[in-house]
Amino acid sequence: MKIAIIGAGSGYMPGVIRGLLHRAGDLAGTELACHDIDAPHLDVMTRLARNMFAARGASFTVTAHTGLEAALDGASYVFTTFRPGGLAARHLDESIPLKHGVVGQETAGPGGFLMALRSVPVLLEIAGAAPPDAWIVNYTNPTNIVTDAVARTTGARVIGLCDQFAGDTEMWAGLLGLPFDRLEADWIGLNHATWASRVRLDGTELDLPRLLADLDVPGGGATPWRDPSRMVELAKALGFLPNSYAKYYFFHDDVVRELREKGTTRAQDILAMLPAYYERIDAESRAPDPDPSRERGGGEHGEFAVDVICALHRDENRRMIVNTRNGGAVSSLDDDAIVETPALVGRSGPVPLTMGPLPAPVRGLTQAIHAYERLASDAAVTGDRRTALQALMAHPFVRSKHTAERILDEGLAAHRAHLPQF
Ligand code: G6P
Ligand code: MN
Repeated sequence: MKIAIIGAGSGYMPGVIRGLLHRAGDLAGTELACHDIDAPHLDVMTRLARNMFAARGASFTVTAHTGLEAALDGASYVFTTFRPGGLAARHLDESIPLKHGVVGQETAGPGGFLMALRSVPVLLEIAGAAPPDAWIVNYTNPTNIVTDAVARTTGARVIGLCDQFAGDTEMWAGLLGLPFDRLEADWIGLNHATWASRVRLDGTELDLPRLLADLDVPGGGATPWRDPSRMVELAKALGFLPNSYAKYYFFHDDVVRELREKGTTRAQDILAMLPAYYERIDAESRAPDPDPSRERGGGEHGEFAVDVICALHRDENRRMIVNTRNGGAVSSLDDDAIVETPALVGRSGPVPLTMGPLPAPVRGLTQAIHAYERLASDAAVTGDRRTALQALMAHPFVRSKHTAERILDEGLAAHRAHLPQF
């Protein structure tokens, strides 16, 4: 069996290697075709992988590729985890909208829209070049829009991933004083716009409105990924759990102010730490039993992707939260929408579980996000400028036509080199 990893020079790769080690027995003998256009980073990560596998007796073969064709040839699974244009492009995604008073946000915001315009053409190329029966296991963001574009315009089998639900469930377990490993939350909606009104402890449903009413709003503690104080404030108002990205919808103007005060983008912060990070990984990759840090992708990222591949490959019918075609699972969203929802994942792909409607207080918002995402997907596939403008006008952060025009004009100009469709 062969798994192609596209974007294997990513700083998230140590987590993927750990994920592969966890399931080394189930994937024994697999070839890992590691691809990246950044040869030095690919070199570091493939050496790390080889040495970690050797030190722990895992029987993977690691090959390194800077060309797509050889990486994809004969692959059963194509795991995509790259960012076209890298973090320099992310900086533009985050900063162009902010100039116009809008949170850029590299996935959920108009920044994510600009990223979708870059990601989709590359994913379509990969889908076209991969074996027809391969599964594309996509982490490239914005994963919902990318997955939608691939699913609707190619015959490829695709599943979209995000591990946000795992970290969010863990945060809520901590806030509610409940054991994380015994909780199961039905996060439903769209990627980075999911909501959990049903949460079970050892299979028994919790009375969330009551638990939340009793909860005090904690002070501070915000990280780039989570803001417990605002999340509790929001959950108390809603009576159910919001995804951490809900912050950008419900506290948009406060976030604009904070980002302006902060002065640097998240991309700039990461760019500043990356050279030293890769140096440490490089040194570690040469150690007898490498044990690299997971400063990037420190959560469930790698483990989750490998578990999804195992669920598909071994026909496990495992309950997992993935992005896939709705087919009526979330009744408030179109049947052909790519939704994030619990599904049983086995050989024939994810089968979404029936989840019913979205909670009323966020139903309209989530439907509006879907309308935006569909337009964004169409614009990214066709390169049609008017559709692109409509997408930004439909975006809940933007709405204003003139602001949408400015973000679009500047975004298309700034990313010209990565937008063959425009
Ligand atoms: C979370 C999201 C991912 C996103 C990442 C960004 O994990 O689920 O979709 O890519 O955060 O993290 P970063 O450290 O790059 O800001
Ligand atoms: Mn995500």
